[in-house]
Amino acid sequence: MLKINSNYSKIKPTYLFAEIAHRVAQHKEKNPEAQIIRLGIGDVTEPLCPAVVEAMHRAVEDEAHRESFHGYGPEQGYQFLRDKIAAVDFAENNIQISADEIFVSDGAKCDCGNIQELFSADTRIAVSDPVYPVYVDTNIMAGRDNIVYMLCTKENGFVPTPDDIANEKPDVVYLCYPNNPTGAVATKQQLKAWVDWANENSSLILFDAAYEAFIRTPEIPHSIYEIEGARKCAIEFRSFSKTAGFTGVRCGYTVVQTEVEALDANGVKTQLKPMWTRRQTTKFNGASYLTQRGAEAIYSPEGRAQIRSTIDFYLENARLIRQAMTSLGYTCVGGVDSPYVWVDVKCSSWEFFDKILKSANVVTTPGAGFGAAGEGFIRISAFNSRENVLESIERFKKAL
Ligand code: MLT
Repeated sequence: MLKINSNYSKIKPTYLFAEIAHRVAQHKEKNPEAQIIRLGIGDVTEPLCPAVVEAMHRAVEDEAHRESFHGYGPEQGYQFLRDKIAAVDFAENNIQISADEIFVSDGAKCDCGNIQELFSADTRIAVSDPVYPVYVDTNIMAGRDNIVYMLCTKENGFVPTPDDIANEKPDVVYLCYPNNPTGAVATKQQLKAWVDWANENSSLILFDAAYEAFIRTPEIPHSIYEIEGARKCAIEFRSFSKTAGFTGVRCGYTVVQTEVEALDANGVKTQLKPMWTRRQTTKFNGASYLTQRGAEAIYSPEGRAQIRSTIDFYLENARLIRQAMTSLGYTCVGGVDSPYVWVDVKCSSWEFFDKILKSANVVTTPGAGFGAAGEGFIRISAFNSRENVLESIERFKKAL
């Protein structure tokens, strides 16, 4: 009889946010009247901005006529979108990325999960603890369970250093800044230490920049490519989910530059870019034309102003949440340059999660769900309406 991939038995049976959804559904079943406010999963609540909506309407119209109809698109993404990404996200910031090093996809989660297919089964990976579970689970699914965990604590400002793994020699390090879940940001010096380490050790950095649009502090880097030497040793993931409210629309992109190399079975250096092209052209048919026209509109002057104002709105939510939790006596990280507030609750994080779910009808994310070092913390997401954020704060004041 068919045998399963037994690596699946090494991961938790449910994905973190599925487990939370399950607990919330149980609570709702017992308390049908409860007005639940969701500050758990980082899912956006504000509608798509007008520039995106108009562009998508026009794209629907294109698809309605034979002359402007599009069938399968280029797997790597339409040129019109890749050119805008290269010009606005990178060239404007003095980073030279060519459009053919950009791979448009249906979101950063898929790319972060799929990229490990390019590496050998015995590749040693390192991740932060706490960590976005996708990096860990996808590697375990592929049989790599020898994972190095880099502790992120108050002491290191939730940013690990290469010294933390001096004896481990991982081949690949996942870094995510602004960080999910802690909301911490990394400085140029901290990222420079990682880039130097990766180049010295012929290792690869997988840099998840899904939350870069929330950075408002001028000196905090938005991209790993702001760091000299990163072209050779880093792949970067970007997402339109939080940047432009595309969690439901689905679109993101990955940058794989020509210089990024690894060894083949004969010990010969080979580029990862053609491999990623091969992977995407085989397993993916591209994000839809409508989606990519919508994404393109984010880069118009109106689109840029509109998405910035929505992000400012969420950042104000984050500031209010952080201020409220601090005034209730909790120590917080994040919530500045990030939509997530990481709260030290000084008790079991699942217990705290249950307590505020039951007593305040507010959903958060227990830190332990992101790894052992997340125990004792909860993550509160700023993605909600102002009304719901203010209401949650009132409920916290009564419940805590
Ligand atoms: C989160 O809440 O951590 C994110 O929404 C998950 C994701 O982006 O996949």
